[in-house]
Amino acid sequence: MRALFWTRVIAWSIAVIASVVVVVLATGVLERETGGTGTTASVGGPFALIGTDGQTVTEADFAGRPRAMFFGFTHCPDVCPTTLAEAEGWLKALGPAGDDLSIVFVSVDPERDTPELMKSYLSAFDPRIVGLTGTPEQIAAVTKAYRVYARKVELEGGDYTMDHSAAVLLFDKNGDFSGTVDYRDPQEKAVEKLKTIVGS
Ligand code: NI
Repeated sequence: MRALFWTRVIAWSIAVIASVVVVVLATGVLERETGGTGTTASVGGPFALIGTDGQTVTEADFAGRPRAMFFGFTHCPDVCPTTLAEAEGWLKALGPAGDDLSIVFVSVDPERDTPELMKSYLSAFDPRIVGLTGTPEQIAAVTKAYRVYARKVELEGGDYTMDHSAAVLLFDKNGDFSGTVDYRDPQEKAVEKLKTIVGS
């Protein structure tokens, strides 16, 4: 009887552990496929980063205003410059309704993206696009809290690039996560989504 009891306990334990592993793996896969936002729960929250003038910037600096945040790096060959150019189009399409909106570009490449480099890189874009970088620890913390995938990929010749999720995360004026603009969303769809937070 006793042996049977423990066999059952062990069998149940294995089953429970196996299902936890399956859930964890499935969540990881989902996050990659949706561009880093597998769930809507607990995306976002406090952060401390460094602005383009070297000042500390936290979520409190955006309090009371809607915010669209995305993550990338200045050496990015296509996704980031494309998203930045599209973001300018969104601001233009929103018109005065978008005056309150902050578009925040956070570096996932703190090694190369100094505040100075972020500043000169973003000087080519709409001034409502805010650039933030940070120490490697600060960037690790914000990407974790915002469920952003970012990984360094070594290239031949000692160079490297960053593999990163491309979704733009939307937060209403209360700082609550309200969805994403996805990389392939056409402008009308992106603007529709942005209207849900600028009107919040
Ligand atoms: Ni990029």
